Amino acid sequence: MKNATNHRTKETLLEVSDLRVEFDTYGGIVKAVRGVSFEVARGETLAIVGESGCGKSVTVQSLMGLIPMPPGRITSGFVKLKGQDILGVSLEKANQFRGKEIGMIFQDPMTSLNPTMTVGKQIAETVRVHDGVSADEGRKRAIELLELVQIPEAKSRVDHYPFQFSGGMRQRVMIAMAIACKPSVLIADEPTTALDVTIQAQILRLLRELQRERDMAIILITHDLGVVAQMADKVAVMYAGQIVESGTVDEIFYQSGHPYTLGLRSAMPENDEEKSKVLIPIEGAPPDLFNPPVGCSYFERCPNAMKICGRENPALFNVSSPEHLSRCWLQVPRRAQPGGGGMRKSLRHTLNTADAADAAAETAAEGRVTFFEQPSAPFRGDESGMAP
Ligand SMILES: Nc1ncnc2c1ncn2[C@@H]1O[C@H](COP(=O)(O)OP(=O)(O)OP(=O)(O)O)[C@@H](O)[C@H]1O
Ligand code: SF4
Ligand SMILES: [Mg+2]
Repeated sequence: MKNATNHRTKETLLEVSDLRVEFDTYGGIVKAVRGVSFEVARGETLAIVGESGCGKSVTVQSLMGLIPMPPGRITSGFVKLKGQDILGVSLEKANQFRGKEIGMIFQDPMTSLNPTMTVGKQIAETVRVHDGVSADEGRKRAIELLELVQIPEAKSRVDHYPFQFSGGMRQRVMIAMAIACKPSVLIADEPTTALDVTIQAQILRLLRELQRERDMAIILITHDLGVVAQMADKVAVMYAGQIVESGTVDEIFYQSGHPYTLGLRSAMPENDEEKSKVLIPIEGAPPDLFNPPVGCSYFERCPNAMKICGRENPALFNVSSPEHLSRCWLQVPRRAQPGGGGMRKSLRHTLNTADAADAAAETAAEGRVTFFEQPSAPFRGDESGMAP
């Protein structure tokens, strides 16, 4: 597991607050992201996990200005990069800032690399656009970057086309392009899903080395909890367009405060031992994002659901620390006070105190647990080929 670092003392680089994104479709309006908030500090890795379609990619695409508008639109929220709002400024200004300060790696490099241009020209182009260097300097920088991402014989490979590289090498080229302008934030949307385990381990190791050298913040989207355990400092669990639980890796794995997180843990193999066990899938399907439910979005699938859950969407409550939050009525303080003691301060206004009291009473009456015990064996993830 990644060594714990006290990131709270580090500079917050990216701040996302109440981000909401919708798409117009023939079937209606898809509410893809519904009030997502998070922060990432220098040198910190935030993993975003959740089932397919829960809004992970749309969230990070919004930060990069990659939402097609129309049919998409950002209906609320702000995104601040080094304290500067990048949603409220002109597209040109935002793009300049984004391209230099935020780099992005996609799952499939073939869809992001231009098949008709040598990789050297593509990397040099990125550097030239943002740093305004000459063609010769751009080529020199391209070779340096290919060496940095450990492409052998970079001086000759710089003139090769993407199809002449293997999948892992193409992903390294993507990483070289993403870090070409020394971004302070690197977004990786499932960067290793298409790769085999050994290559995946090498790419993750490279990302960690680059992060250490450059003190970059990383936002990592992945389906693999083993990857989360090895790479992340903190985790945001998304469900139906919302973050339903967030906290440090240890809090999410060992002190989970949301039934969905626990369901994900049971449904996903995390290590070789678990791969041989019978995994328990989460029954049912996420709600329709055309018409999200008024209550908790996990209500239909939740083994712990109470009456209030179908009626009111819970706010984010504190679980085991001020930074560990769960959007679940089971976490409502037992003695719900006006103002909601135990809740994150900034979210108190969203909670109706009478509902909090109802939920507390319902939880107590049914003797429900508010804390989900995790397996006692230490979680190690799939460590094959990984650096400690
Ligand atoms: N251009 C678009 N037009 C309409 N709907 C869209 C568009 N892009 C995304 N969506 C919808 O937004 C929702 C969230 O999609 P998103 O791609 O963010 O999911 P995801 O969590 O990244 O899933 P996956 O794990 O499969 O990559 C989905 O319902 C998706 O169909
Ligand atoms: S709020 Fe209710 S339905 Fe939603 S996750 Fe918590 S217990 Fe389950
Ligand atoms: Mg995605």
